[in-house]
Amino acid sequence: MSKVRVIVVGAGSRGDIYSNFATIHPDRMKVVGVADPRKFARTKLQQRHNIDNENVFEDWESMAGREKFADAALICTPDRLHKDPAVAFAQRGYHILLEKPMATTPEDCTAIVSACTGSGVMLSVGHVLRYDPTIHRIKELIEEGAIGDVIHIQHFEPVGFYHFAHSFVRGNWRNEAESSFALLAKSCHDIDLIHHWAGARRCVKVSSFGSVSHFNKANKPADAGDRCLDCPIEPQCPYSAKKIYLDAVKQGHSGWPVSVICPNSYPDIESVTEALRSGPYGRCVYQCDNDVCTNQVVNMEFEGGVTAAFSMVAFTEKLCQRQTTIYGSKGELSYDGNGVRVFDFLTQSSTKHRPHSDVPAFGMNGHGGADYHLMNAFISAVATNDPSLICSGPEETLLSHLLVFEAERSRLQGQVVHCGADHGKQQGT
Ligand SMILES: NC(=O)c1ccc[n+]([C@@H]2O[C@H](COP(=O)([O-])OP(=O)(O)OC[C@H]3O[C@@H](n4cnc5c(N)ncnc54)[C@H](O)[C@@H]3O)[C@@H](O)[C@H]2O)c1
Repeated sequence: MSKVRVIVVGAGSRGDIYSNFATIHPDRMKVVGVADPRKFARTKLQQRHNIDNENVFEDWESMAGREKFADAALICTPDRLHKDPAVAFAQRGYHILLEKPMATTPEDCTAIVSACTGSGVMLSVGHVLRYDPTIHRIKELIEEGAIGDVIHIQHFEPVGFYHFAHSFVRGNWRNEAESSFALLAKSCHDIDLIHHWAGARRCVKVSSFGSVSHFNKANKPADAGDRCLDCPIEPQCPYSAKKIYLDAVKQGHSGWPVSVICPNSYPDIESVTEALRSGPYGRCVYQCDNDVCTNQVVNMEFEGGVTAAFSMVAFTEKLCQRQTTIYGSKGELSYDGNGVRVFDFLTQSSTKHRPHSDVPAFGMNGHGGADYHLMNAFISAVATNDPSLICSGPEETLLSHLLVFEAERSRLQGQVVHCGADHGKQQGT
């Protein structure tokens, strides 16, 4: 396999993680360029990957203005800045790894797919869970007939109480106008999995309810301060920024979520204190400009009568440890993050499946190692010119994104949405 040259567009948290693949496999990937308006972020990547000065840019536009100088672009910019760079780099002939969500409107998602298809470049979307060996095993078991015909899928995403406060109340994904609605930002992974497990059938009807609960001014305790550092009742608050970040860094934890709150420096007690004093992560959770749902349900009916029910909840102990049960005509498959259990109705016995996942430890074990597997597949696909290695390619990913938009439309309009005739059509299942 030849060594793949990549450029990193957006050197924040995700750009940093994906570029670690070059450190693990220097023989397979080299980071040759970076673009980011934050000097700290781009310099960090430049130093780690020894990138030439001429290939370091302050924004994606000046990078895209240059003649093509790599094989692939890793687009890890904020949600609202996906479509323009994805289209521009695809048209320049770069293979694209694009973070999810693809974009924030159906039209922009479709434009990205058209640009990639029109330019003959590969597109892999950051649906990391598709690369989780256990998720992959679930699909294999379904296809092997382990539970007969799929009848109903029940899927639950517990976001985690402090994760929600970090990302969706104080952080980057708190406000739809700045990023995207919660179902797209957080749960496009889950709708994609449901669509995949349902055999990528067309979804014919969808309904959804959801609300922004608890995190609003009406629930702010009378004595609470506007910032946790000055709040007299901070010790009684489970969402205290002091607990989530400052106590963590004092105990020596500088990984996520502490790692992302100091935009211009490495996190230490001083920089974290300053971030809580003046930045968004020090704000009272009852005094933020958050407007994305804390809890949402989606019901779906697919062609052939397969039904699915999905719930996303902020207020959970578990952090993103999805729970799924798939009910089939001959058995039941359940998954709770600790392997897969299949119960066979005929023999009334169950079997456990625990796929092995070998992930080099260095900075890529996020999402149960799926971050690594996604990059492994993408880099292999580019090196061998084989798009079949990509599990989150353009057509199926576009369809599952369109389903997310339809679900949100149902929530906003308060009615069942009958999905468009072309929606959900899939070549092969
Ligand atoms: N696949 C997943 O599970 C997963 C997990 C988290 C985030 N994400 C997605 O990944 C994307 C990035 O998220 P993140 O957590 O890395 O955010 P981040 O804020 O840490 O990184 C985004 C980076 O883009 C940079 N940027 C802004 N404008 C730019 C421009 N004009 N040109 C170049 N760079 C620019 C920012 O300075 C920042 O460094 C988001 O779309 C997010 O939703 C996906």
